[in-house]
Amino acid sequence: MTPAFKTSLASTASSVEKHMALLLQTKAQQEKHPLPDHLSKAMQYAALSGGKRLRPLLILETAALFNRKDDGLLTAACALECIHCYSLVHDDLPAMDDDDLRRGRPTTHIAFDEATAILAGDALLTLAFDLIARQEVHQDPAIRLQLSQQLAQSSGRCGMVGGQMLDLLSEHRERSETEIRQLQAMKTGELLRYACYAGATLANASPEHIKIMNRFGEIIGLAFQLADDLLDVTATASQIGKATGKDADRGKATLVANMGIEATQKELVSLVNEAEQLLSVFGEKAHILQQLAKYIAMRNK
Ligand code: IPE
Ligand code: IPE
Ligand code: MG
Ligand code: MG
Ligand code: MG
Repeated sequence: MTPAFKTSLASTASSVEKHMALLLQTKAQQEKHPLPDHLSKAMQYAALSGGKRLRPLLILETAALFNRKDDGLLTAACALECIHCYSLVHDDLPAMDDDDLRRGRPTTHIAFDEATAILAGDALLTLAFDLIARQEVHQDPAIRLQLSQQLAQSSGRCGMVGGQMLDLLSEHRERSETEIRQLQAMKTGELLRYACYAGATLANASPEHIKIMNRFGEIIGLAFQLADDLLDVTATASQIGKATGKDADRGKATLVANMGIEATQKELVSLVNEAEQLLSVFGEKAHILQQLAKYIAMRNK
């Protein structure tokens, strides 16, 4: 990590954290009924608990590549982060991965209770669509509509949720490499791809540049889950803030289990190279995004 990248990572994560706190605490003007305090506390617990904020970072840095930088982008970035945080709350539920530790703290259903965690997840999911539709996100309502629809698709039945279904159905089952890649592209890849696509779209990039960023997002998406699965095998719980060794315990279908640690590490190196090559058309301006690709693939938490 270069010093410029480290600073950018930390400062963006902190501005996302602040903006998210504001969005969660400010009552939307048009809502006519009160926000139950217990629900609000559970949403804050789930969303303000110091994640790496990689998806917001990808939106913001991609938009910056095409010269857009303002608070409206932070609202779009928080919309995606709300979906991500909801997916984690539900992923940890006893009916799913049954995890007690997340981001170094008890998971939401442990800190509150299962019903509250389910509802906090639901409320973060729906808040995401309130946020992405707000005028500050983009002045053109047609673009906001397109981003909302794409967000629904990336997070929904043929995206993250569909991937989570395949993930659960694959526990203790034989799965081919192709099937695992498909499952991962859906459960994790789609939201990361969306981040890059949305960042470019929000900054009015050309269709050709949006296509490049979309592909970059696909590569990052795959690398992200490979790294997550690798950390599950190689890291400690205190290092990554969540339990480790759980994929093998639950018989999860992962590429690490399928092709081994070394082949996974090799693939990560080649994905980083591919990502770098894609960004080379943007020259020095893409420096932070290039670093980000490397960080996502080689991270230790
Ligand atoms: C973890 O995502 C869940 C997966 C999609 C594999 P992150 O590693 O981005 O989690 P946080 O947000 O930093 O906690
Ligand atoms: C979760 O994948 C993907 C989501 C859609 C949340 P994992 O189940 O591997 O994520 P962790 O390891 O619990 O963070
Ligand atoms: Mg899971
Ligand atoms: Mg899990
Ligand atoms: Mg995992």
